[in-house]
Amino acid sequence: MARPLDTMIDQGLLATASSAAMLRFTLRPSGETATAELALTELCAAFVGSVAQRLEGYRQWPQPVEDRLQHWAPPGTSDLVLQSRLNQLMLALIETLPDRLLQSGLPGRFTEEYRRSALRITQRIAQARRWTHGVEDDIFRKDLALLCLRMVPCVSHVVCRHSGIPRSTLLLPRNLASGASVRVLLALRDRLRPLIANHVHPEMIDRFDPAGREACYGLVSALLRHWPDSEGLVGASWYYDRAISDISPNLAYLRDVPARHGALFLDAGASDEATANAVSRSERRRARVEDGTYRPRNVMMVWPRRALLEHLPHFSATQAVV
Ligand SMILES: CC(C)(COP(=O)(O)OP(=O)(O)OC[C@H]1O[C@@H](n2cnc3c(N)ncnc32)[C@H](O)[C@@H]1OP(=O)(O)O)[C@@H](O)C(=O)NCCC(=O)NCCS
Repeated sequence: MARPLDTMIDQGLLATASSAAMLRFTLRPSGETATAELALTELCAAFVGSVAQRLEGYRQWPQPVEDRLQHWAPPGTSDLVLQSRLNQLMLALIETLPDRLLQSGLPGRFTEEYRRSALRITQRIAQARRWTHGVEDDIFRKDLALLCLRMVPCVSHVVCRHSGIPRSTLLLPRNLASGASVRVLLALRDRLRPLIANHVHPEMIDRFDPAGREACYGLVSALLRHWPDSEGLVGASWYYDRAISDISPNLAYLRDVPARHGALFLDAGASDEATANAVSRSERRRARVEDGTYRPRNVMMVWPRRALLEHLPHFSATQAVV
């Protein structure tokens, strides 16, 4: 007999969870013991349970949880075993995703976003693609945070709930001199957290375009309504830099749309990381860095809650997203 839950949870998500369970069964090493299965169940519970601690970002987990992960996938183990262990963790989390999503109370529209993510991760594992940097792999960390509901997929970006604006950014001489720090403090009434932070997910860039970004803002507006304590949206990237509209006009929309609708911008400084990200996919930007006419800087976009909601006053979480 079908469980009552089945009628409430998206059937596509349930099908994805079943595929993950079958794949995990197929890929399970032949000698795997009941003890390992128990350790995996406990590891999943540790990750999922720690989300209640209102963690910032997506990279770090509480030390006891990191320790469990190290125990499950110990340093020095063969790459074959490491990849298998990380895959089992991901698949086991997908198996319980439908129930956890239902219990989370997130608006129904997010089921489709999580289904897409769960399917993408299952396919990645079925295709035997490696987590290049093991437990430290950026995509692994982002996907782990997604499957634990610590991060929410929003079409073109992934977002975290418990972020904020570092005081060190507000205190940068450039931001003090330009008045940007004061404008941000006034707009947020000194409340520098919690803010929703968005990040680029390298495996979701098929929807990284103006329509995908607008759909992302729509989902962020649904999250702001769902989390009334949230002060707005932040993100830091080289692509919010004003210089980008001349160098890469295809990316100008990333700054222009929020800027037209009340977002503010703080300088976050030049760095090797900003340069590496800015040039990694563009010969044009690389050439401009090499000839000295462009020095990538990170810029923090701050879109206060009220201004973002005024931009999308009618978006509801059930509205179709492109
Ligand atoms: C941010 C990012 C997803 C934007 O990607 P994008 O929308 O494709 O835009 P880009 O300007 O980076 O495009 C890269 C190249 O693809 C080309 N391109 C972009 N869209 C295209 C399209 N629709 N058709 C054909 N070519 C296209 C561009 O011309 C560009 O090459 P060029 O600058 O040498 O001319 C991408 O730059 C990226 O993944 N960067 C590395 C990671 C990163 O920066 N993350 C954010 C950290 S804060």
